[in-house]
Amino acid sequence: MNTLLLLLLLLIVVILFFSVSINGNGVINEETPKSSCEIQAEQGSNLEIINVNSRCSPFRPKTPLSWEDSVLQMQSNDKARLLYFSSLVAGRSIVPIASGRAVTQNPTYIVRARIGTPAQTLLMALDTSNDAAWIPCTGCVGCTSSTAYDPLKSSTYKPLPCGSPQCNQVPNPSCGGSSCGFNFTYGSSLVAATLIQDNITLASDSVSGYTLGCIQKATGSSVPAQGLLGLGRGPLSLLSQTNSLYKSTFSYCLPGYKSINFSGSLRLGPNSQPIKIKSTPLLKNPRRSSFYYVNLLAIKVGKGLAKVPPTAFAFDPNTGAGTVFDSGTVFTSLVKPAYTAVRDEFRRRMGKATISSLGGFDTCYTVPITVPTLTFMFTGMNVTLPQDNFIIRSSAGTTSCLAMAAAPDAGVNSVLNVIASFQQQNHRILIDVPNSRLGVARETCS
Ligand SMILES: *[C@@H]1O[C@H](CO)[C@@H](O)[C@H](O)[C@H]1NC(C)=O
Ligand SMILES: *[C@@H]1O[C@H](CO)[C@@H](O)[C@H](O)[C@H]1NC(C)=O
Ligand SMILES: *[C@@H]1O[C@H](CO)[C@@H](O)[C@H](O)[C@H]1NC(C)=O
Ligand SMILES: *[C@@H]1O[C@H](CO)[C@@H](O)[C@H](O)[C@H]1NC(C)=O
Repeated sequence: MNTLLLLLLLLIVVILFFSVSINGNGVINEETPKSSCEIQAEQGSNLEIINVNSRCSPFRPKTPLSWEDSVLQMQSNDKARLLYFSSLVAGRSIVPIASGRAVTQNPTYIVRARIGTPAQTLLMALDTSNDAAWIPCTGCVGCTSSTAYDPLKSSTYKPLPCGSPQCNQVPNPSCGGSSCGFNFTYGSSLVAATLIQDNITLASDSVSGYTLGCIQKATGSSVPAQGLLGLGRGPLSLLSQTNSLYKSTFSYCLPGYKSINFSGSLRLGPNSQPIKIKSTPLLKNPRRSSFYYVNLLAIKVGKGLAKVPPTAFAFDPNTGAGTVFDSGTVFTSLVKPAYTAVRDEFRRRMGKATISSLGGFDTCYTVPITVPTLTFMFTGMNVTLPQDNFIIRSSAGTTSCLAMAAAPDAGVNSVLNVIASFQQQNHRILIDVPNSRLGVARETCS
């Protein structure tokens, strides 16, 4: 009796399986409709930029966070990154200690790179404030992704010896065996890597003999799962290594935070860049050669000028003070006197409405925001942002906060103002190193 029942059940299962899963050609169908997340034909020198939380990102949280939790998570990532920046500006190479529970510092935006022959695809984090390129390698201890680059499967892979000129440009180089090893910190992580060369293919451009780090060991949680593609401008950076191809010129448009189905774009090289674009001079700081410094002069809240003391924005190569554009920080961070002045002007314009807070945001409202725009005034360029670039709204639409914060307190090192990605979304940012300028133009890329 039992056996009969079992057989019957088996028969039903088999019938169900065949009727649901196999089509006429005997190919098993996917249960969900085919998504459009597969590799799009990326043409020329244009790459897609994906937000880590977007539908097509393998790094998006399995269970979506509540709006409040995701804001707090982004703020906590920002804080870790800004403290790391402070340590860089100060020239110390220490690992900042994350207080309390460990922060999982996800990169915000990723691009697709193909490395080696045949190509191995990695979704690398984009970081405009870093020069390095590194990827997790097979056998890496402490890397989080199961996707790693396997050098032994690439016919164009080459380890770089300790005596090579490139080995002199990495931090803390050492000779393990005969290949060039090095250690560095990223956020709150300590990373050990070897220096290698292989082809890198970005969209349809292939660069052979590209020098990058192959991660052997990582501690902490700041290392992007499938590696980092630095777009800074120091030695060994993508810009330096591809100068003949891309002429140290690129632009990007970051998709909106709420547009989870959309991607932005990264355009490498001087071709197909906007011809007419508002721009401000790029400044060089020898202490932080990878940062893109600009000269911020003032901030207008609606029509009112925030009363920022002039010293708060002053560029000073000796202390690292000044203003940078960064794609890895989410919310714009201003040194305390500047933030306080902007916030006070904002509150003044909101009149008597009741103020609440959310984590690091101290200027939140449950009434509609009446401040229509916010203007960053740079040398030679005013950038007027619409509300979507400076107000973050809860999904239910009941709470709205000024999406900026004061720089975390790092003592004398809190000198950097960071124009971050929330303020940059749906704008094209052009970095044109040969002409020493940074351009900004409104563009709906999502
Ligand atoms: C890698 O570079 C070599 C040498 O330049 C070239 O022959 C090969 O086609 C490249 N591989 C890829 C995947 O682009
Ligand atoms: C990197 O750090 C590890 C452990 O902290 C150490 O054993 C190794 O010698 C270091 N390697 C280099 C290249 O500095
Ligand atoms: C994104 O696309 C999915 C599938 O096509 C759809 O169900 C969802 O509503 C879209 N989300 C947004 C925010 O547009
Ligand atoms: C920016 O705006 C200010 C005040 O509105 C104006 O005086 C200045 O000329 C503008 N700068 C540029 C480059 O347009």
